[in-house]
Amino acid sequence: MNNKTLKVAFFGLGYVGLTMATSIAERDARVIGYDIDTEKVAKVNKGETPIHEPNLSTLLRRNIVKKRFFAIEDPRKAVKESEIIFITVGTPSLQDGSINLDYVKSASETIGKELRDLEDYKLIVLRSTVTPGTTCNLLKPSLEANSCRICGKDFGLAYNPEFLREGSAIKDTLHPDRLIIGEMDEKSGDALEEFYQWLYHDELPPTIRTNPDIAELIKYANNAFLAMKVSFINQVANLCQRIPNADVEVIAKGIGLDRRIGPLFLKAGLGWGGSCLPKDLRALLKFSRSKGVALPLTEATLFVNEIQPLNAVKIAEKLLGDLKDMRIAILGLSFKPGTNDMREAVSIKIVEELLRREAKIVTYDPVAMENARIVFGDRVGYSKSALECINDADCSIIITEWPEFLKIKPKDFVSRMRNPIVIDGRRLYDPEDFSSKLRYVAIGFGSKI
Ligand code: UGA
Repeated sequence: MNNKTLKVAFFGLGYVGLTMATSIAERDARVIGYDIDTEKVAKVNKGETPIHEPNLSTLLRRNIVKKRFFAIEDPRKAVKESEIIFITVGTPSLQDGSINLDYVKSASETIGKELRDLEDYKLIVLRSTVTPGTTCNLLKPSLEANSCRICGKDFGLAYNPEFLREGSAIKDTLHPDRLIIGEMDEKSGDALEEFYQWLYHDELPPTIRTNPDIAELIKYANNAFLAMKVSFINQVANLCQRIPNADVEVIAKGIGLDRRIGPLFLKAGLGWGGSCLPKDLRALLKFSRSKGVALPLTEATLFVNEIQPLNAVKIAEKLLGDLKDMRIAILGLSFKPGTNDMREAVSIKIVEELLRREAKIVTYDPVAMENARIVFGDRVGYSKSALECINDADCSIIITEWPEFLKIKPKDFVSRMRNPIVIDGRRLYDPEDFSSKLRYVAIGFGSKI
């Protein structure tokens, strides 16, 4: 790529679009973010991020001020003034769990129409998670029909999945493990690879160039495998709890040293949530069923995760008996630390179960309180700090492993709680230390209850 400023557009300023657009602007590209949400466009242009993501607001503000990035609602300008157009719209679930491709459809129609009067070659790159066949059977025909131009000749097209995690989205964008390029034709693949060479200063991560169908399935297989690893270790954790002296953390370490298994994604807990894994596994299952193929491992992965959060409630009941009117302190509400995202957070399942048992719930999360109010309304209490949350509680449950909870010492639980019982759903604390000072039960830690 020569020295002229690279011009890139993003259609959809959600998690993926906003973090990638900001990261690319930081590398001196001129980036236009298109979104249909007027409020979001205005917010982004003021340098305000609609999501909580480390480093994002600083980078966004800097690039808005330097005019390297701006958001608009005008698709014409976004398409006309860009060489590469990334589609980063959401692909939520339909009621039955299958994928909703409406936003991909409408983005392709909008971009297609804008391509119609343009002479120059543009590269369109789909980055949203989609079921196999979407790029070839939906995106390509829609772009061609709406633009009256030919894919491969007049414009390029590729599917290029993202693997970024909430909470480390900028880092994952700038330092990915690998790139998957699902190209419709060689010219499109070359153009996208050249873009990444520019972005990564010629230190390209391992790159697989393949067809779009395979690239689309790689993304699903990736998320299904990650979720399976966590459900697997959670299953081992449940067994450990019934064996005095067993500890899932040591077992995870032991098996993780086998290079064929690896140490990551073996942290046992109360289950996995978020905006991606649950939705993608359900969509994969629906898709595979439509092809007449059963995926029993993925079914089991989801099943284990359905019941895993309820462990916290069962333990509380064993320790306290009837939970009616018991004051339960919930520490952590977001689906994982580093984000305010509560989509499919296990905290929701646990709190709803406790409310069904008429327990009195008081909650605290360092960043997700605003989102929590939307979910729970006035059915639970909200504390200003973790210490305030545990005051007078009959039981404290750690649901999200926020580092700030490490500052709470056994003596704080003992002196503040009515009944010093801690259920450590994320293996945050040292079991030896805590068990010797209060009633402490941890996921995957053998105990006699
Ligand atoms: C996930 C994938 O990790 C990304 O690679 C992918 O790009 C993204 O989905 C997506 O499809 O867009 P994310 O949902 O941000 O990313 O979160 P993860 O870090 O994967 O965590 C998912 C859930 O698993 C969390 O609830 C977390 O607490 C849980 N988890 C993770 C565990 O319980 N144990 C672990 O060892 C790891």
